[in-house]
Amino acid sequence: MTSPLTIAIDGPAASGKGTIARRVAEKYALRHLDTGLLYRAVAVLCASEGIPLADAQAAGERAVRLDPADLKGEGLRSAAAGRGASVVAAHPPVRAALLDWQRAFATLPPGAVLDGRDIGTVVLPTAHAKLFVTADPDVRAARRWRELSKDHDIAYRTVLQDIEERDARDAARPDAPMRQADDAALLDTTNMTIDGAITEAIRLIDARLCT
Ligand code: DC
Repeated sequence: MTSPLTIAIDGPAASGKGTIARRVAEKYALRHLDTGLLYRAVAVLCASEGIPLADAQAAGERAVRLDPADLKGEGLRSAAAGRGASVVAAHPPVRAALLDWQRAFATLPPGAVLDGRDIGTVVLPTAHAKLFVTADPDVRAARRWRELSKDHDIAYRTVLQDIEERDARDAARPDAPMRQADDAALLDTTNMTIDGAITEAIRLIDARLCT
């Protein structure tokens, strides 16, 4: 039996990594896990159950009891859930609680594409291919603003500030900070369309899988 194929795709918010990961999973007939959803679900559950986001122990205990159905909860994609996720994601007990889940998902045949912040560095350090997808903060903010402003009255500056704060918190935390793995290929999507970025991602992954 061949071992499950694992592909790690990391990067900051609105870099395009989620869309790329979904399309890469389709291309290689793998399952896909958006690991940001796990942290978003923990944050939303903590908020709705009166658990302070700053309480690392209590948030970790809530993360241990996370159920797959929680990933389908309402409001997980909101800007508030993203901010909350970035706060609870800095707590080691939360990260520890979600680690086995992510690895179990990834290693179930036929394998999976996981996207997040620490997939190539911590969750799947031996992934068969790794990408770090990024783009300039103002370009990422414009993309996110176009999405959010369809349903909400929100200023571009607010979105940019939110993205910059989240980048800083995710990269500065001591436990599993967001960073490019040494063996990850860098994909900067600043001047790319999403279709162009997907094509380039598949080219980079094909090159990794063939070596
Ligand atoms: O990818 P996203 O915007 O849905 O992620 C929300 C937050 O979750 C992000 O700001 C940091 C955290 N996160 C993380 O720390 N590690 C991951 N593998 C995925 C997300």
